[in-house]
Amino acid sequence: MKAIEIRNKFLNYFKNHDHKIIPSAPLIPVNDPSVLFTTAGMQPLVPYLLGEKHPEGNKLTDYQKCLRTNDIDEVGDNRHLTYFEMLGNWSLGAYFKEESIKMSFEFLTKELNIPVEKLSVTCFAGNEDAPRDDEAARIWEEVGIPKERIYFLKENWWIAGEEGPCGPDTEMFYDTGKPKCSEGCNPDCDCGKYVEIWNNVFMKYFKHKDGTLTELKQHNVDTGLGLERMTMLLQGKETPFETELFEPIMKKIEELQKVDNIQSRRIVAEHLRASMMIIADGGRPSNIDRGYILRRLIRRMIRHLNKLQISLNETENLIDLNVDNLKEMYPELLENKETIKQVILEEQNKFVKTLEHGEREFFKAANKAKAEGKDVIDSETVFKLYDTYGFPPEVTEELAEENNIKVDMEGFNKLFKEHQDKSRQGSEQKFKGGLAEQNETTIAYHTATHLLHEALREVLGDHVKQSGSNITTERLRFDFTHPQKMTKEEIQKVEDLVNEKIQEDLPVTCEEMSYDDAKKSGAIGLFTSKYGDRVKVYTIGNFSKEICGGPHVTHTGVLGKFKIKKEESSSSGVRRIKAVLIK
Ligand code: SER
Repeated sequence: MKAIEIRNKFLNYFKNHDHKIIPSAPLIPVNDPSVLFTTAGMQPLVPYLLGEKHPEGNKLTDYQKCLRTNDIDEVGDNRHLTYFEMLGNWSLGAYFKEESIKMSFEFLTKELNIPVEKLSVTCFAGNEDAPRDDEAARIWEEVGIPKERIYFLKENWWIAGEEGPCGPDTEMFYDTGKPKCSEGCNPDCDCGKYVEIWNNVFMKYFKHKDGTLTELKQHNVDTGLGLERMTMLLQGKETPFETELFEPIMKKIEELQKVDNIQSRRIVAEHLRASMMIIADGGRPSNIDRGYILRRLIRRMIRHLNKLQISLNETENLIDLNVDNLKEMYPELLENKETIKQVILEEQNKFVKTLEHGEREFFKAANKAKAEGKDVIDSETVFKLYDTYGFPPEVTEELAEENNIKVDMEGFNKLFKEHQDKSRQGSEQKFKGGLAEQNETTIAYHTATHLLHEALREVLGDHVKQSGSNITTERLRFDFTHPQKMTKEEIQKVEDLVNEKIQEDLPVTCEEMSYDDAKKSGAIGLFTSKYGDRVKVYTIGNFSKEICGGPHVTHTGVLGKFKIKKEESSSSGVRRIKAVLIK
């Protein structure tokens, strides 16, 4: 079965079981701006898991484009992917364990025709926070999984980050038929015999910053099934790279290569797809945050093209081939083909220059070391080449070898690790922030963002459109289209107008309607991104009307005083405002 058939079967199955199919949210979060990328199907649904009403009802299903980059440097082995698709179904306080497990079992065994003997499951073993999930185990037994293939594990608990909705989960495993690696081999073992295929989270708790758990108003189910993995298993393949999702590009790379290296081929194929998906959803390379991830993906791909000795003139053909292969699943790749090419090729040219520049710096450092009578380039210099010039350390190593000088790679690796730990902490912080910090302050900033958006349109004109938004507990940041720097007077006018609307203490109301009605009503919104058929429209007095998932404050009087701290350029044709609320 092809990936697209699995996707369609999944969505149809849940549609036939009373679920509404909702579109994939963009890979770059729209209303959850403080996370880098969407990393799970539940992420765009957090407000609804916490009790907001979803306009499409309380049973939902979708395919969600996801990107996880924690271990970007591990891609290239046979299982890690950065970009992947997650199929999911959700109960927002509708059904719970029984229905969820029964549907999963039926889908796997009847729709995908997986023999029951191939399935094992794990349930939560219990800890001081929550009891062992005997109920889930009982239901599994009832549907037909024998007791000896039901395991209890402590790890069966799911939460995104450290704070937020969470709960025990039950995971389904596919037995590849490989022999057990040891007597005690079970789904917890990563020898490759058992592959996790689906995770159903019984999200009935909320974990707070201080570590305590409280029960949520509603008992939710959040499930996630990794499409690439399922495709690989059903096709009897060892890796996703042998499925139709990657096979054409892998073959082409093999044709073009002058040096054989399977790991490099996988890296090129994987990073190219991931980069294309990010760009199609509006991402652009830069030196920070998600732009930096995209930059790393593209640059790593180019390094491995070099390693395979494939001419960089081929990049464009590889993009064409990938668009062609994936356009049925992701029409956005075809729609954005020219942009994708432009962005990747531009980044490629920059990187080629970086490499040339780095090479010059390398020779300076090598000559200096030799002049000082040393036969080794110190770790700080290697790190500087990497950090400042973007020069990959393995290239430094290769050049050193060619030039009869050593490099202190051990020292470099230490520095690199320190640096990586710091940036990982940074992105974990971000992830946590995005999902969890749905508190009074961020909600207030969210409403202030709507006021700002409308005020900008009134003062500057209707050409103003949101192109990005980022909220922390400290401030809001709003990017919008506008061709030139705002004048002091314009900034003052916008600030005054927002404060006026706060003082008027306007009511904030929410209505559900069809997407077409919302558009007709004059509501603004990100019309470039996908919405479901029914949407929520937030209205602030008679001032602002915007399509949005919420939540918001109930009246503007609670916002305090609004102050614009900064107006600056974000990128060409896009301005950025940072503003705060002072209580
Ligand atoms: N949120 C869970 C996961 O990502 C189930 O969808 O595994």
